Amino acid sequence: MGDKVFYVTTPIYYPSDKLHIGHALTTTMADTLARYKRLRGYDVYFLTGSDEHGQKIQRRAQEAGLEPLKFVDGIVATFKELWRRLNISYDDFIRTTEPRHMHAVQILLRRIYEQGDIYKATYEGWYCTPCETFFTERQLVDGNCPDCGRPVELLKEESYFFRMSKYADRLLQHIKDNPDFIQPASRRNEMISFIESGLEDLCISRTTFDWGIPFPMDTGHVVYVWFDALTNYISALGYGTEDESLLHKYWPEAVHLVGKDIVRFHTVIWPIILMAAGLEPPRQVYGHGWLLVEGGKMSKSKGNVVDPMVLIDRYGSDAIRYFLLREMPYGSDGVYSEEALVNRINTDLANDFGNLLSRTTAMIEKFNQGVLAAPVASEPLDEDLKAVARKVPAELDAALNNFEFSRALGAIWRLVNRANKYIEETAPWALAKDPTKQPRLQTVLYNLAEVVRQATIMVEPFMPGVPARVWQQLGLADVPEALTWKSLSVWGAIPAGIKIRRGAPLFPRIDIKNLEGDKTVATEATVPAAAEATEAKPVEEEITIEEFARVKLKVAQVLAAEKVAKTDKLLKLEVKMGDEKRTIVAGIALHYQPEELVGKKVVIVANLKPAKLRGIVSQGMVLAAVDDDALSLITPEKPVDDGAQVR
Ligand code: MSP
Repeated sequence: MGDKVFYVTTPIYYPSDKLHIGHALTTTMADTLARYKRLRGYDVYFLTGSDEHGQKIQRRAQEAGLEPLKFVDGIVATFKELWRRLNISYDDFIRTTEPRHMHAVQILLRRIYEQGDIYKATYEGWYCTPCETFFTERQLVDGNCPDCGRPVELLKEESYFFRMSKYADRLLQHIKDNPDFIQPASRRNEMISFIESGLEDLCISRTTFDWGIPFPMDTGHVVYVWFDALTNYISALGYGTEDESLLHKYWPEAVHLVGKDIVRFHTVIWPIILMAAGLEPPRQVYGHGWLLVEGGKMSKSKGNVVDPMVLIDRYGSDAIRYFLLREMPYGSDGVYSEEALVNRINTDLANDFGNLLSRTTAMIEKFNQGVLAAPVASEPLDEDLKAVARKVPAELDAALNNFEFSRALGAIWRLVNRANKYIEETAPWALAKDPTKQPRLQTVLYNLAEVVRQATIMVEPFMPGVPARVWQQLGLADVPEALTWKSLSVWGAIPAGIKIRRGAPLFPRIDIKNLEGDKTVATEATVPAAAEATEAKPVEEEITIEEFARVKLKVAQVLAAEKVAKTDKLLKLEVKMGDEKRTIVAGIALHYQPEELVGKKVVIVANLKPAKLRGIVSQGMVLAAVDDDALSLITPEKPVDDGAQVR
């Protein structure tokens, strides 16, 4: 299989700030493709990194009172931590300040210079520092940067120029001959018109600052940051070193995933650099849309920057990855909101996927003592389920090869939901009551377990944390042949006789009410993620003692507890405070069994406005300490009577 290679990259991010959820989108897409191709037996190389030079970074470091390298070191560490938490399986992380990269950039420039495509001239133009881009007077919009709208600076300096114009026709021909080179087609068309309107030579050196790679032919200049940055895609493969084996193996099989704002750099400047250096252009560039938040683009000044770390802490990385991949429409912009995220978790992950697993395992435990029996009595209905299953891998493949992540997930979910419907249609609980229907029951349970197996294999590239948890419940952890992509081509690779063990729900439902109005769990973080901007601003608002005194806290004794039907998290408690009795609904069922609560003394908010939860009026709220997945009820440390005040 070694002959099938796949090289996927993310943009290298500027370490000027911590990354936000929009950056996590590109990297999650790249990781999903890398994992998928590995699953399909490709030899994969997945590269990400950081773009550390340029005036913007130099200024940010100055503001922070640090040497540039010290400044970026700190931020790059946060990138790596985010990728670790998000389960990103990159093979290499390139930093443009590493000697291996700086060396490659210098070799590349020298090669292009020696063949006559770089010349010196006086440059006068407008420079946008945040975009690290030059513009002509004509390109400005109201005197500002045409890309970001911010002010530009007039620069006049002796510079080196790259003869891009010379390659315009060759590039245009390449784009026309390779319809898949730029995706989606709308961006391909934009780029064609851009090139047809005429390419100017590119200024590739600067003298007004020095935080960059020295220009090899003239060390008073530093290399233009985009020339420097784009080269990462080959410097990481050892370009210009004695060992170019990675380059030979993976170039030009590169798929560059980028945001729509940097498509031009990747489909015009980069291919021309490569052509000038005698290398082939990358295989593909996919320009995805932006992830917007309410109010448009995320920006620090608007205070609406969403920190992916906060979301991972709150919902887990698989759920965040799922949301990003499912919610972004192909090629255009998508919108993030915490509500939409929670909706996806509750609907697609908890209800559809999670429930299929828990219903399947629960029924096998209940009706078959946890042992998966071989199928014996098939009916036409089964063929319909199998037919849906048969089509999914090919559709998923087609969708992913086209960067249609949402459609790929949609295909898997069609199978999951077909199986959920199959449960209703076959009603295993009714079959279980009739001993003559035993063979049919076994077949139905077998088919359900088989669907869970197939869906889980396919879900891995999107949510890599899921399979291990499912295999544990299905008893498949030690059956590697049942976990491969190839095993999807036959129905029934799940071996009969395995021991099924129902586990904790894969994706516990999030009670939206817990996030908003009625905070059953008092200590749960409820600050909207948007407020937790990348800057470490204090998010806790201070209150006065009088304000605090308005909250009446009391000790209450639990008299009775039971689960609220059709929920995973809620318990209904009957409590007493002196002579008074109350009903309270608390979101603690994942942490406490009803019977262990009876007799316990807890602390409640006694003057909370009653709220209806699942039809039950809850007259208060139980306090608990919450830490990641752990939850502990607050209880008086010495014996006190119920009804006692807590102050
Ligand atoms: N350093 C350059 C890339 C050099 S690649 C050789 C750069 N860095 S960046 O950190 O500003 O942006 C990196 C990527 O993040 C870009 O692809 C950009 O489109 C993407 N995104 C930034 N905000 C985004 C969203 N809100 N949504 C989706 N992607 C976004 O540009």
